[in-house]
Amino acid sequence: CGIVGYIGDKKATPILIDGLSRLEYRGYDSAGIAVFKDDDIYVEKHEGRLKVLAENLKDKDLNGSIGIGHTRWATHGAPSDRNAHPHTNCSGNIAVIHNGIIENYMKLKEWLIEVNGNGFKSETDTEVIAHLIDYFYEGDLLDAVYKAVEKMEGAYAIAVICKDEPDKIVAVRKDSPLIVGLGKEEKFLASDIPAILKHTRDIFLIENDEVVLLTKEKVTIFNELKQPQAREVYKVTWDVEAAEKEGYAHFMIKEINEQPKGVSETLNRRLNKEGNIELDSIKITKEDLDKIDKVYIVACGTAYHAGLVGKYAIEKYAKIPVICDIASEFRYSDPFIDENTLFIAISQSGETLDTLAALREAKRKGARILSVVNVVGSSVARESHDVFYTWAGPEIAVASTKAYTTQLTAMYMIALHMAITKESMSKEKYDSIIEELKNMPEKIQKILDDYVIAQHLADTQFNNESVFFMGRGLDINAAYEGSLKLKEISYINSFAIAAGELKHGTIALIEDDTLVIALATQDRLYEKMLSNIKEVKARGAYVVAIAKEGNKEIEKSADTVIYIPDTMDELTPILSVVPQQLFSYYMAVARGCDVDKPRNLAKSVTVE
Ligand code: G6P
Repeated sequence: CGIVGYIGDKKATPILIDGLSRLEYRGYDSAGIAVFKDDDIYVEKHEGRLKVLAENLKDKDLNGSIGIGHTRWATHGAPSDRNAHPHTNCSGNIAVIHNGIIENYMKLKEWLIEVNGNGFKSETDTEVIAHLIDYFYEGDLLDAVYKAVEKMEGAYAIAVICKDEPDKIVAVRKDSPLIVGLGKEEKFLASDIPAILKHTRDIFLIENDEVVLLTKEKVTIFNELKQPQAREVYKVTWDVEAAEKEGYAHFMIKEINEQPKGVSETLNRRLNKEGNIELDSIKITKEDLDKIDKVYIVACGTAYHAGLVGKYAIEKYAKIPVICDIASEFRYSDPFIDENTLFIAISQSGETLDTLAALREAKRKGARILSVVNVVGSSVARESHDVFYTWAGPEIAVASTKAYTTQLTAMYMIALHMAITKESMSKEKYDSIIEELKNMPEKIQKILDDYVIAQHLADTQFNNESVFFMGRGLDINAAYEGSLKLKEISYINSFAIAAGELKHGTIALIEDDTLVIALATQDRLYEKMLSNIKEVKARGAYVVAIAKEGNKEIEKSADTVIYIPDTMDELTPILSVVPQQLFSYYMAVARGCDVDKPRNLAKSVTVE
């Protein structure tokens, strides 16, 4: 979910709506605002996209200059007008917006019903917060919020306004992102910087367990014990334009096209004059590395797929065993973690709660925490010992693209850095891989320039209701990502399978004209892969192969071949994913899907 708040002299409503429009990638199944109107709090909220809310506000004359707004991604209670935020207490004195989950909300609700009677209007956990604050309210909102928070378990960022104190907003951060923007005689609140960047570049980053009191003149940050906290102003140097579409039809295709730049930035910013990798932000010494006997890589979604390639690179280059796990599984799997473990979290947003929770668990058990994160100052970054920032720039489309290729670049660089520090790789080999990594932006560009191949394929295949991806070795990892892209945005039932495993069950699903995308870029495994292509061909499949340039032979077996520029086997995922991203994109466009905001998904999932 996304939250915004405004307090100042201007009309709050347009500022809130504009801010929410920049947060829609956090969730968009319903939206709402609460603003002061005369001496009352006025709430408007609707199921559906933000434009439904905006439409309904059009002819309402709302002058209030204090308000809060919310765009929702449903957790407790289905998307509906009733369950949309803000939520109020019975009398409508208090309005609350909330991002996250209150885990003990049922218990609190039962208790509140017992003492106050049942005045609940929704199924949400958030409404409980409004009732709880009301219960504790004795003329001081800040005080009531503190008392309510004490009772609440879970992860949340909340913002509250109160009819009897029409000169303030109170907000709390616990495990869900929250920032404050500082203007002259006006203050802003949001779950993410782009929401308020139009108005100010001076930001306070709110820490966990802090409570913020905003008036139009002043922001006061308190810790758990209600002691005021000093905070340095964080100056945003990046531009809001970077987060706009710049003429592309969708953010996704814009971001696909930004990959040469992202990979180049991620790499080149860390190569010194001699062409060696320098990781200033990673303080792991040779002694530290010698002690590390295993690595855990933990992430979700696309970042997890980058982790699978990272596992391969670290094991191959640095010769340390790596376990790559899905964050939501990791915590409950009794992981083998101690002080000799290096834990690597990968996350575009740095706010994915599953990843954050896994990180904390690993930290508690003594692991050294290194994170690979795109969003500067995000929670995952702040809670890590060492951070490697990918330089992808803001990623807005829900389906991750440039974050993935920059994460891959980061993982290769970390693996190479570990290998050379540990002396487990020759300098010649190290140099040759870096040299080839430097060629990647240009090679990605070449695939992008040939986008019509993927577009044409999509134009002829978009009616398929199922697609199979297969590959061996590193190819299967890139295929997992290709398959995820396709299902995320085009709602096609697709999955990726290790090609050798096909014959142990899945091949039963292959029939005439089944579309199979076969990745065949690994020289070492090429012959085996060719056999797998023939197996599915023999059952009637239509095979699209992704192969290295110069491989003419594969044209005899596959129906269509998409070529990627030649490269070392171990670096192919950076290239082979690109035609798959393009294919998914054009499939979704051909099917008329909402590419940047696919149904049921959110860009940043801050619930477990
Ligand atoms: C969500 C997004 C995915 C993303 C995953 C991990 O599920 O829809 O695209 O890969 O979260 O996000 P992160 O920000 O941690 O990389």
